[in-house]
Amino acid sequence: MALTNYAGAPGTKDDLIRLLIDCDTGIDDALALAYLCSLDHVHIRAITSTPGNVDVEQVAANNRALLKLCSKPDVPVLIGARKPLDIPLVTTPETHGPQGVGYATLPAPGPDSLANNDAVDYWIQAARANPGELTVMLTAPLTNFALALRREPRLPWLLRKVVIMGGAFYYQGNTTPTAEWNTHVDPHAAKEVFAAYTAAAEQGLESEKLPILCSLDTTERFEMQPEFLTKLAEEAGCAEPELVQPSDVEGTLSKASNPLVRYLSDALRFYFEFHRHYDQGYIAHVHDYFAAGVAAGTLDYETRPATIDVETESQLLFGTTVADFRGLWGKPANAHVVSRNDPEAGFAELVKRLGTLARKLN
Ligand code: RIB
Ligand code: CA
Repeated sequence: MALTNYAGAPGTKDDLIRLLIDCDTGIDDALALAYLCSLDHVHIRAITSTPGNVDVEQVAANNRALLKLCSKPDVPVLIGARKPLDIPLVTTPETHGPQGVGYATLPAPGPDSLANNDAVDYWIQAARANPGELTVMLTAPLTNFALALRREPRLPWLLRKVVIMGGAFYYQGNTTPTAEWNTHVDPHAAKEVFAAYTAAAEQGLESEKLPILCSLDTTERFEMQPEFLTKLAEEAGCAEPELVQPSDVEGTLSKASNPLVRYLSDALRFYFEFHRHYDQGYIAHVHDYFAAGVAAGTLDYETRPATIDVETESQLLFGTTVADFRGLWGKPANAHVVSRNDPEAGFAELVKRLGTLARKLN
């Protein structure tokens, strides 16, 4: 059964979304977090940090600094795994910068009361205490989710909605010619997660509880142009235009008067430069923002059911995700792969929400 969501449909924007986020903040993770902080109908219960774009301590520091910037300092930030399940951690400073947020800098965050609690234990306790209530969004390697499923196999039944950014289906990868970053960092975890959902489907798990998978084939349609920042600064009420241009000297820092506009401009500029270095143009694929809109029920999308598996043996295809849309493997669907989205509406939504949030921070 294909799932569809048209923002504003009954039971989407109006419902309170109680959200657990697992991310590897990163530039597009940071954009997604700022967006989710702008939504009154989303209650961010906790943010768990996974190593990926940068090491996990830096991920947690980025999460806490961003929450402080967005006036959500009380949201707990926790750490679970410090490396992938079975292979060494590989980070990508060339993509997101040495600290994971491009050229952006933020004051050191304050202390976090739950910092020493384990992210995986927190997920399991929260899901058991709120059966059928929690939405989870994962925009990182699936290490923590795999560990949680090992310890609590009932998790697919306990969670309300699961949104994952990861994978690429019959579409070129961004890490190897066939593999997407999140699944390539920890392919064993991704394989375990989809195997767990195959087993749950075989035991009768409702289709609506299968993960919604935002893979490169549709997240790369969310291709941000630098003019987005000019519009955001206007929406935020900045006096001066925010111009980020291909002709700028690399590393030019924003002078925006608004702290959120300045932070996002400095982060995204690095991302524009990265995409240009890899012949994709002076643009930025904001994968995780699309996943955030799916989790929040604010962006339109359509999906197709599929059985997903992940290559963990082949050197050539290591970390590659494969989707069986036709039941050729004789296994039940274990995910809903996004097949359609609306970037133009998505960027209009993002400007509006972030502009409103930015005005509150001034
Ligand atoms: O492949 C894109 C994904 O990898 C995004 O989540 C980005 O933040 C990186 O983690
Ligand atoms: Ca990410």
